[in-house]
Amino acid sequence: MTRILLATNSEQFENSVRDALEYDGALRWWDDDLAAGVDLESLAKELTGTGAGVIAIGPGVRPETAIDIAAHIDAIHPEISTVVVGELGAKLWESALRAGVRDVVSHKASADELQQVFWRAAEATILARANLLPDVAEKARKDSRGRVIVIVAPKGGSGKTALAVNLAVVLAHRHPSKAGLVDLDLLFGDVTNALLLNPEHSIADALDAPSLDPTLLKVLLTRRERDLFVLTAPDSPALGEMVTEDLVTSAIDGMSSQFEFVVVDTAAGLSEVTLAAIEKADDIIFICDMSVSAVRGLHKVISALHTLDMLRDKKRHFILNRADSKVGISTADVEAAVGLSVDVRLPSSRLVPRSMNEGTPLVESSPKTPVARSLMEVADLFSPLDAPSAKNPRRRRQ
Ligand SMILES: Nc1ncnc2c1ncn2[C@@H]1O[C@H](COP(=O)(O)OP(=O)(O)O)[C@@H](O)[C@H]1O
Ligand SMILES: [Mg+2]
Repeated sequence: MTRILLATNSEQFENSVRDALEYDGALRWWDDDLAAGVDLESLAKELTGTGAGVIAIGPGVRPETAIDIAAHIDAIHPEISTVVVGELGAKLWESALRAGVRDVVSHKASADELQQVFWRAAEATILARANLLPDVAEKARKDSRGRVIVIVAPKGGSGKTALAVNLAVVLAHRHPSKAGLVDLDLLFGDVTNALLLNPEHSIADALDAPSLDPTLLKVLLTRRERDLFVLTAPDSPALGEMVTEDLVTSAIDGMSSQFEFVVVDTAAGLSEVTLAAIEKADDIIFICDMSVSAVRGLHKVISALHTLDMLRDKKRHFILNRADSKVGISTADVEAAVGLSVDVRLPSSRLVPRSMNEGTPLVESSPKTPVARSLMEVADLFSPLDAPSAKNPRRRRQ
């Protein structure tokens, strides 16, 4: 649902909107300085920083000030719909329109009227946000399908998510707007935290829809810094449980019709959902660390996938995580036990958990460290740096 925010000190108005929208949660945001309107630009930043898609200003704010705030919001986030709550004369109406205000409504409006105004505003935001996304039609015309890269490890803590977010970020830097990331750890996914996202939607929002068509998929994606598009896991495990293999299959199909690279993070174990993703994969990245249990677990999973004949036609890659751990087994031991040769070795580094906790991917925050360089080597497997369109994220940032 598109979040609605009421910048007002009127509890009564909040209650009217709540009743009109049959919504129980909090809607109101108020700052004592709001009416004084000292620094409207930072105020607009604060309001849009809440992640709201619709922002109503007033009652309790002078209409002129409300219009000014709306103009500042329009300047930084034109896709957000603003509503001025108050009585406006003809002249103010005109300046409201010029400020990009979507609608004006009286604080005494009926429930029906309020519902109409807020629904229309939310709809406009959804459409505007969808239009910000890359052109689906262009990709469809080329009739090409993006490369689906699924990350698999039966053991939790292997480094799947650390790898998924960093790989997706590097691919997005090298191919802006052409990389997508799907969090299929549907119960406990942490991509949202690792990338500091504030998603409005998740894959679970497609549960009630008859099909996950490109328009709906666009609405469900969360955009990260204009480059990377993420289909997040729901924040409630109960909703995650409800996501079916069919939905996962159509989500991956939809993503690969829009993006050249689709990185898929999965949960521990080998669930039906993960199998559905593997079925759609062009590439599978197996990852494990140097522990005997991780190595054995991975061997079992690969054998099971062979038995199910699910590895045919798929490129397989193998990443050894925490490869510098001195635990009495060597890379050669691991390769022999798993039956794959190691493509990239990722060293242990405290920067990995730190960057995940802070929500700043390592390849951006510390690109020169050995672990970041190894993560970029993983990206080289899919998008070699000497390819014509490849750009080194480090070079781009200088
Ligand atoms: N190379 C590494 N060095 C140090 N810590 C790591 C490394 N790779 C992963 N971690 C940490 O280990 C934990 C598990 O990693 P995560 O990517 O969440 O695994 P998974 O998604 O497979 O459960 C996280 O706290 C992560 O920061
Ligand atoms: Mg994970």
